[in-house]
Amino acid sequence: MSEIKSYLRSLERSRDSMRAEHRPRVFSLRGREWDLLGTVFAPVHAGTTEIVLDMLGLSDPACPPWRGAFLEIGCGTGVVAVTAALAGCERVVASDINAEAVANARLNARRHGVADRVLAVHSDLFEALPGGQRFDTIVWSSPYVRAPEDYRFATPLERAYVDPGYEAHRRYVDEAPRRLTNDGRALLHFSSRGDMDGLHRIAEETGRRLRVLKRHVIVDRGDVVEHFLVEVRSGEEPSEVHDDAVRRGGPRTQPARTMTQPA
Ligand SMILES: C[S@@+](CC[C@H](N)C(=O)[O-])C[C@H]1O[C@@H](n2cnc3c(N)ncnc32)[C@H](O)[C@@H]1O
Repeated sequence: MSEIKSYLRSLERSRDSMRAEHRPRVFSLRGREWDLLGTVFAPVHAGTTEIVLDMLGLSDPACPPWRGAFLEIGCGTGVVAVTAALAGCERVVASDINAEAVANARLNARRHGVADRVLAVHSDLFEALPGGQRFDTIVWSSPYVRAPEDYRFATPLERAYVDPGYEAHRRYVDEAPRRLTNDGRALLHFSSRGDMDGLHRIAEETGRRLRVLKRHVIVDRGDVVEHFLVEVRSGEEPSEVHDDAVRRGGPRTQPARTMTQPA
């Protein structure tokens, strides 16, 4: 297994993110202040939250207003969900398996005056969400590093970094398309630290198609890491491994940027 895909290294990152210097009580991100609670994924340590905002087009103040119902699975501090509400989504659900993340998202929704539109829910993926609820956008910035099937989490935070046997990825790929409105999109933030072949096998086994919509390359402490925004679609056709830009002959990636903190 290559170094960047090592689950032990990701667990080490998870421990490192618990050090006091990486856990300000309040942090700044994209011009806003955010609360951070004790065992919640720390965007300032990881850097991936900003990548997700960029790939979704939620960072650009000039972006056209968002509409409809937005579900963020694995909301952590709630930065993405709250930003979606601030961008115009009328109904936002922010859910996480870590109860402290749910409280954290609630705090940040209140801090930014969108508590009336952001419902924070404690849920293992879709389990606590009413079956009939449909969303225009569903997104999960997943713990894309694969751990051995029999790995048992030592802390709630480790769930933000690894997924044993891709059990949660399998359930997300299978279930997310069923929770969409007719024109809705189910999205997954994934990276080259993850097992993309494994994800494609899961898609085939669950009758889904994967399409890479966006790519973003970073250099992270000497490692080149590619981030992907993947759409999970229902359907029989084989998964597509190329993004639109590749098929149009456009640039394969956005320019690399250097990060000082690990993703
Ligand atoms: C990489 S973190 C992303 C956090 C946040 N979205 C962000 O970008 O800052 C992944 C999140 O998924 C959550 N998670 C992991 N497994 C989950 C599951 N089965 N159901 C719901 N949330 C889960 C973790 O607790 C964590 O908050």
